[in-house]
Amino acid sequence: MTNSKIRKVAVIGTGTLGSQIAIHSGYHGYDVSAYDADPESLEKVLQMIQIRIANSNRKPVIPLREIQRQAKKIKMGKTLEETVGEADLVIEAIPEDLRLKRETFKQMDLHAPPKAILATNSSSIPVSRIESATRRPERCLNLHFYSLDLGRNIADVMGGTKTTRQVLETGKEWVRSIGCVPLTVKKELLGFCFNRVWRAVKRETLHMWAGGYADFKDIDRGWMIWTGMSQGPFGIMDAVGLDVVYGIEMVYYNESKDRKDYPPAALKRMIQRNELGVKTGKGFYAYPNPEFKKPDFLKP
Ligand SMILES: NC(=O)c1ccc[n+]([C@@H]2O[C@H](COP(=O)([O-])OP(=O)(O)OC[C@H]3O[C@@H](n4cnc5c(N)ncnc54)[C@H](O)[C@@H]3O)[C@@H](O)[C@H]2O)c1
Repeated sequence: MTNSKIRKVAVIGTGTLGSQIAIHSGYHGYDVSAYDADPESLEKVLQMIQIRIANSNRKPVIPLREIQRQAKKIKMGKTLEETVGEADLVIEAIPEDLRLKRETFKQMDLHAPPKAILATNSSSIPVSRIESATRRPERCLNLHFYSLDLGRNIADVMGGTKTTRQVLETGKEWVRSIGCVPLTVKKELLGFCFNRVWRAVKRETLHMWAGGYADFKDIDRGWMIWTGMSQGPFGIMDAVGLDVVYGIEMVYYNESKDRKDYPPAALKRMIQRNELGVKTGKGFYAYPNPEFKKPDFLKP
């Protein structure tokens, strides 16, 4: 089922999340083009997705072979300009950095058709902070997806200061059309809908670990037994990417200026050692065979 107002989707940034948005759009019949500053990004992400799926007991929203097949069909552009030229919807999934996102939105606005909707997949930045980089704030919105490869088919949907009702409805309809459940944010909130719940878990568990109160593996054990999930918060953060987690925490800190929101220095040191999680083979756990997958991890 494709969305009546959207035929062509352009994705900017085909890393962990952008690749999945592009792949699912293609799977559901949209004409998909994409651009990434790193021409090898899709290839690297596909390898990572295989490891992520192998380490989870959750089924991907679409089978791995379809993920691989759809990835091959994405038209990778050489420039952002050529990629968005005919799009009805442009969704940005580049690193969590406000300056970079504003610059990218400016380019998206300059080169996409005037009718195109511009969306950000940001995990924490409200589109109200980005929309003024464009001449079409009424057509900008947050569409925040989760790991589709781990079966998380939800997306937070939030407007900016001028987003029209019609654009929000079209955004939600498009989210549904690619097999996801839209979670509507009724008034602007940092962290959106479900992502704010997950963020509270991240902040607490990171500080428990960094403060020496508990071993991260015990926190994960508790979570896994309590929720029945195959990974705990630290395993999930490894899958997200610790650099991405850090960037998100900094957005919250810059908002509150509360020291309790500042991400732990120990997390920063991991990033400086290139321990970014699944994508670099080492984070809290080592990959491709992390300890939480071993049969005795949850043994009494
Ligand atoms: N990782 C997650 O689980 C997750 C979940 C939801 C939302 N997000 C959000 O999605 C966005 C991307 O996160 P990610 O985890 O996919 O990051 P990532 O690091 O895996 O991918 C980012 C991609 O953007 C590319 N890039 C960097 N600068 C660029 C530019 N100027 N133009 C084009 N491409 C550029 C990089 O080469 C990389 O491939 C962030 O805003 C993040 O908060 C991430």
